[in-house]
Amino acid sequence: MNHKKYLWCSDIHLNCIRSHVLDYFCNYINKQKAQGLIITGDISEANNVFYDLLELEQKIKIPIYYVFGNHDFYCSSIKRVRRTAASFHLTNSNCIHLGSNDVINLNQNTVLIGDDGWYDGLNGDYNNSDVQLNDFFYIDELSHLSKFERKKVLESLTQDSADRLNETLKAVIKDSKVKKIIIATHVPPFHGAAWYNDCISEPFYAPFFSNRIIGETIMNTTKEFRENDGKIQILCGHTHWSGKMYPGMNAECLTASAEYGNPRIYLTLEI
Ligand SMILES: [Fe+2]
Ligand SMILES: [Fe+2]
Repeated sequence: MNHKKYLWCSDIHLNCIRSHVLDYFCNYINKQKAQGLIITGDISEANNVFYDLLELEQKIKIPIYYVFGNHDFYCSSIKRVRRTAASFHLTNSNCIHLGSNDVINLNQNTVLIGDDGWYDGLNGDYNNSDVQLNDFFYIDELSHLSKFERKKVLESLTQDSADRLNETLKAVIKDSKVKKIIIATHVPPFHGAAWYNDCISEPFYAPFFSNRIIGETIMNTTKEFRENDGKIQILCGHTHWSGKMYPGMNAECLTASAEYGNPRIYLTLEI
């Protein structure tokens, strides 16, 4: 059977790179002769993200399956950027924002689904953490809120993502041909996948480096599928530190490393 090749990268932050670096990155991708590129968020910032996606797509000419990360909403709102993604896809069919029940058939029995996801503040010690992210100033939905108002918004953003993913997962596992589900999301959906400095995120950062709601949703909904030998593989980023963890039977969660100014392919998926 001919294997198909998909490239995965995360946190490429294209707004931080010079054009020759983008060319180098695209040349590398073109040499891999892959069928598609998966990006797990933090592609750029809201003012540039669609321009950057378009430029990337024009240079690599393979489908781009992406989710947004927190940075992709900077200087705008989550709602506005997601709405623009839907119309952007109509004119650029090779740029596919995962969410809204999108199911990409990577081969006869492997599918790719995804959702932006969010951090929900439920892992670690939110109440005593004084971590301040730029997200709280540059994203409309999170600005001008008290710490406790913000927590409610974080949970609601994550729950919305979990609900969308849940619906898609339920539809996908009904299809008996599907043996493996790859799930792309930005924020690690388990505390144990929130790698930083080769360790799991400490309690003051974990609320913002992981989410609990999406991880629990994925594991609960796929329980029977996994018990019947179905496999799930979760791809995420956000912490910029690589790691792998196994949240349950037939499930793995990979976190991609990343470096500002130096976008690179983190992994080639041979499917
Ligand atoms: Fe990032
Ligand atoms: Fe991020």
